Amino acid sequence: MPAVSARLRCPPTVATALFAGLVAVLMAMTPSAAQSPRVLEAPPKVALCAGCHGRTGNSVESRYPILAGQTTEYLARQLEDFRDGRRRHEQMSAIAALLEPEEIAALADWFGDQPRWPTGFIADPVLLASGSERARELGCGACHRSDFRGNGTIPALAGQHAEYLIAQLLAFRSGARHNDGGVMGAIVPSLGEADMRDIAHYLATLAPKP
Ligand code: HEC
Ligand code: HEC
Repeated sequence: MPAVSARLRCPPTVATALFAGLVAVLMAMTPSAAQSPRVLEAPPKVALCAGCHGRTGNSVESRYPILAGQTTEYLARQLEDFRDGRRRHEQMSAIAALLEPEEIAALADWFGDQPRWPTGFIADPVLLASGSERARELGCGACHRSDFRGNGTIPALAGQHAEYLIAQLLAFRSGARHNDGGVMGAIVPSLGEADMRDIAHYLATLAPKP
């Protein structure tokens, strides 16, 4: 095998050492890019999602959740829950059933990596102030983070469509959605419908992860 023996005979050159040094310097200069490389190419199955969520996950219609900038772990978990029947929705359950595990991972990476665009939602200032106060009193930020940008399997709520947020809070309350291990189910009984509306107005106006 001439190629192998050639490689064995060839010690690291000054040029490769310099190149390695340069790479190390560049990586040190761009630590975030080095830790989480951007997913530049959309996985093919994005075509199945774009009609409702938009190609970058910045849905226009407020009944479709924005997926852009959502945490990757949460996105993957929800797709698995739809696939396995722990969370039910006619269209999403049917679509998730078509996805292989590696496709779920690629879609979660893609959408999680997209910047979340501002929706242009204009909150009623009175509702917004009351929502901000209620969210603080109820400690929503303890899990969702004080900037509501989420963490792991706890979803980002900042900049999400208010209509979608209210629908989910109602679904947790009615028990129609119960894939949360009881966490949200335990919290929603302390929320009246005015609280849900006000908190959703507050969350929808918060700046999402850039
Ligand atoms: C026909 C419209 C439609 C299509 C197509 C669609 N979705 Fe959805 N998706 C929805 C709706 C509606 C919901 C909200 C479901 C609910 O109310 O529980 C949703 C919810 C989700 C959620 C949960 C978001 C959250 O914040 O909890 C994820 C993740 C998701 N979709 C991913 C996808 C992916 C990935 C694709 C493509 C493979 C896709 N969807 C295709 C309509 C659609
Ligand atoms: C103890 C931790 C915890 C607290 C406190 C908490 N949440 Fe959650 N929340 C979660 C988790 C975990 C999920 C995801 C559940 C799942 O996997 O389906 C969630 C999901 C949600 C969702 C659904 C988001 C989506 O994209 O579908 C909304 C809306 C929400 N929470 C709002 C709130 C509000 C409003 C409060 C305060 C009243 C609150 N949460 C307090 C843990 C928490």
